[in-house]
Parts: sequence; structure tokens; C-alpha cells
Amino acid sequence: MMERKRKTADELRSARWFGPDDLRSFGHRSRMMQMGYSAGDYIGKPIIGILNTWSDLNPCHAHFKDRVHDVKRGIAQAGGFAVELPSISVDETFTKPTSMLYRNLLAMEAEEQIRCHPLDGVVLMGGCDKSTPALVMGALSAGVPMIYLPAGPMLRGHHAGKILGSGSDAWKYWDERRAGNISDSEWLGIEGGIARSFGTCMTMGTASTMTAIVDAMGLTLPGASSIPAADSGHIRMSSECGRRIVEMVWEDLRPDRIVTEASIRNAAIVAMATGCSTNAVIHLLAIARRANIPLSLDDLDALGRTTPLIANIRPSGKDYLMEDFFYAGGLRALMLQLEDRLNRSALTVTGRSLGETLEGAAVYNDDVIRPLSNPVYPEGSLAVLRGNLCPDGAVIKPAACDPKFWQHEGPALVFDSYPEMKAAIDDEALDVTPDTVLVLRNAGPKGGPGMPEWGMLPIPKALIKQGHRDMLRISDARMSGTSYGACVLHVVPESYVGGPLALLRTGDIVRMDLPRRRLDMLVAEEELAARRASLAPPAPKFGRGFGWMFSQHVMQADKGCDFDYLEAGFGPTVGEPDIF
Ligand code: FES
Repeated sequence: MMERKRKTADELRSARWFGPDDLRSFGHRSRMMQMGYSAGDYIGKPIIGILNTWSDLNPCHAHFKDRVHDVKRGIAQAGGFAVELPSISVDETFTKPTSMLYRNLLAMEAEEQIRCHPLDGVVLMGGCDKSTPALVMGALSAGVPMIYLPAGPMLRGHHAGKILGSGSDAWKYWDERRAGNISDSEWLGIEGGIARSFGTCMTMGTASTMTAIVDAMGLTLPGASSIPAADSGHIRMSSECGRRIVEMVWEDLRPDRIVTEASIRNAAIVAMATGCSTNAVIHLLAIARRANIPLSLDDLDALGRTTPLIANIRPSGKDYLMEDFFYAGGLRALMLQLEDRLNRSALTVTGRSLGETLEGAAVYNDDVIRPLSNPVYPEGSLAVLRGNLCPDGAVIKPAACDPKFWQHEGPALVFDSYPEMKAAIDDEALDVTPDTVLVLRNAGPKGGPGMPEWGMLPIPKALIKQGHRDMLRISDARMSGTSYGACVLHVVPESYVGGPLALLRTGDIVRMDLPRRRLDMLVAEEELAARRASLAPPAPKFGRGFGWMFSQHVMQADKGCDFDYLEAGFGPTVGEPDIF
């Protein structure tokens, strides 16, 4: 690799704020003095912004309040100057109606925080589902050197001798409670035992999938995504992020050299091998489009067909959780298994190639991280369906559903809203059989609004009591990465904008043929045309504010649900404004 020229202090971006002998710079320096800083503290040093998504309502990032000091320590040790910039904490648990409504808000905030401030590089502190893609999308658009610091998964859940997995076991035991099989005290024990430490969900849900994706993309220190939040190694990783970002500034190692077609493809392969969350599809498409890199649903389907699922982590895997994955060697060990399929020359934040960062990686438990010769599933992390119900695509996770549904035909039971579904689903007189196809519409990006995680529709109580635990379900919603079952998601176009899902009626026969990647309603075209002609335009979801802007600009799931005006190539590149 050709040696690149290191930056000089005069070339730092922050020097524009503090260097010149003019009135503006006088003001900037004077206000730094107001905060107690002398020139020697920061002049001529890389100024590193730490975008910290900590909040009192984000249990997954609870440790960031302390961890940020370790990042600052590393920055100072390497000769940089740290500034902490609180950023909106898009947590998965408490944000309503859905955190997805705010992913793009955080992405915009990250981009503008970076652009408007005297920053030479940034450390992005995130981890809970949407925070990872949001921070990366924003920082990619801003373009300064960046390193991603993943929050790390929480410890395994535990109750009464049972290991509990985030989300997955909540759904599982909730069904048992609905069936009358779990007492109040047992339920309380599960409530207290399923989230035992700070950190992100410890199944291979959206958080672990997305942090693995940015790790494989080269945006974290190698293997950082696998370190449990409560492990002292997480503290050491945090200070190393601080040291490394300072060097990245001097090396002018910008994200456009790291996020390339090769690294996006590497990330997609790794996602498939981990049995990734379906949400990864949306976020990966959005990240690629921010970086102006071609990636389509069909590309992901092709990788899903050819990539074995080798991480035996719930919910797609059977037995283990992220803590086990870390002890088994973590993401570097998983990538070692995939080495021949990955582009080893892709650059990482270390300044070294992906191949170089895998040196010394090893698998310590080959039941957790399987060899390619003994996968959990030979294929099937994700499949993309098309048909007259979803002409622009829909997504399913074959490995997480009962194989008897892979080819299925049954009558639709259609709900127009989540409250309507919720009110009906526990009615034991509901007209439903195990072959019924449950359908929820008006749950997409514009209709939800924000595409909530409603796609794992509950099994009707009448069927739960008969022992049924899976059925074919279809929606334009998303589902949690910790969910499972025969759930077709992300139907595009969504029903709210007049997609064919809006034409389906209760009793219509729906057919899914997963091997052929088809999803159709068996309704005559003339009948569909008549129904289409009688569709009334839906009422607006928002009259003002961010929600209104979201409704105007959010794109469909096959394009990653970014705002149209934030994508690469939306308008001409104008560079940094001359604001001084
Ligand atoms: Fe934060 Fe699952 S709720 S990662």
C-alpha cells in the first residue's frame, strides 16, 4: 500500500476555527478560555467529537455515561483533545410509536453535529438497534474520520436454572403465559432475570447484527462488537478507540476509504452467516446508499442463498447467546471461517486490511461458531420474496420459521391496524385455523408510521391453547431481530401508499412458495382492478413537525427507509460552507 502523507497541524479541520488571526477565531478561542481551556490544551491537536447516545431511558447504553471517560483518556493519551457531544438516544424499549421513526433523525443530527463543529474526527458511541445505522449513516455523509464504539451485548439472562435470551424468550414465555402455563411469581422471575446487566440484547437481534455488520465493514476495532458490555475488555476497547481515532485523523483515514463495495459485501456475507435480524436488510441498504454503493434486495437474497448460517446463536441458531459467541472467539473467529468468501484486502479503521486483522483469530468452541462443513443451516438467513402481493419485495427469515410453512396456502385473515388485531387475537371465538394466514397492514414506513416491529403477530389464543406456536403471517411492518416464526415482513409497496396488500380481503387465498421466492394472492386481476379503483386515499398521519417531514420524505423498505434528500447523489456535492 502506498504510504500516504500525514496531516500537519495547520491542515486540521479544526484549525479553520482556531488558527486565523481574525475576529471569528478570537471569539472561538476566547470561548474555549471561558470553559477553562488554555491554547496548549487543544490548539494544533486533533479535536475529537464523541457522539454519546447515553440517556437515563436507554438501558442498553447505561454504561456510556462512564465509558465516555475511557474514550477521553485514550484520546488524551494519543495527543488529541476530546469533546463530548450528547446525541439523541434512540432506545428500543421506550421510544414510541417505534424507534425506527427516529433513526433518520439521529442520522441527521450526527451529520450536522459533525459538520457544524470544529471536529477533526469522531467516536460514535451506539449499539441499541437503530443507533448503529443512524450514527454510521450520518457520519458517512459528514465524511470526517470516524470509529464506531459498540455498546456490547449484555450478559446472558438467567432464571430458575434456565438461560434466557433477550426478546426471544420474552415472546416464548408470553405465549406460555397466555396459554395459562406460567404463574405470576414465575413471570416476575423471568421479568427480573432476562436483562441482567447493561448492554444490548444478547441474542443475535438487530443490535448484535448491526454491530457485527459495522465491525465486518471495518468501522470498529477488530472484533469489538462481540465484547460483552460488562467485560473489562470493553473498557480497554473504549480507550483504544480514543487512541486510534487520533491517529486516524493524522492519517486522514476517512470513511469513504473504508466503506466500499468490497466492505459492504463483506458485511452482508457476515450478516447472513450470523443468522441476522431482518432489520439488517433495511439498514444495510440505507448505509450502502449513503455511500453511493449499489446494493439491492436481490443481491442480499443471492447472498442469503449461498451463505451458510454458522453462528449458533438464538433466535436462528439453537443454543447459545452473544456471551458464548465471545468466548468462542467472537466475530473475528466467525470471519476466519468465511475468509475465502470475504475480500481480505478491504481497509479497516486500524489502517490494516481485513485479512491482516484476522491474524491470530481462532475458534474455541466449534458448536457455537460452526465450520462451513457443519453449519446450523446450509442457507437461509434471509430470503426475498416477490409476487402480486409484494411486487417490489418482501423479506422472510427461513431459518427462524417452521419448515412446514415454506410452501403454504391458506385463507387470509386481514387486520387494518394493530389495535384491531390486538382486540381480536385473544378472542377464543376468532374464526381461525392453523392454515389461516394472518395479515396486518398499514404498518409500513408511512402507514405505521415508522414501520413498527409488529410483524411477529401473536398466535391467536385459541390456537395457542391447542399447542400451535407458528403460523404464516404477512405485514408491511418490521419485526424485532429477536423474533422468530413464519413472518413475511417489509412488504413493498406498503398498503398505506396503495400497495397490493391494501387490496387483500379476509378469505382470499394466499400462497407462499419459499423455494421459488413467491408470495401471491390468488385473486383474479379484474377483481383486483375493481378493488384498486375503490381504494380511498388514507388520512394523513401527521399534520406538522418531524412526523410530517418523515411522511413526506421516507422511502420504502427496499430502499432502506432513508429520507430521499439524504441519499448520496441527491444533489450536487457542495463541500464545506465557507462560514467564517
Ligand atoms: Fe436495546 Fe435490544 S433493546 S438492543
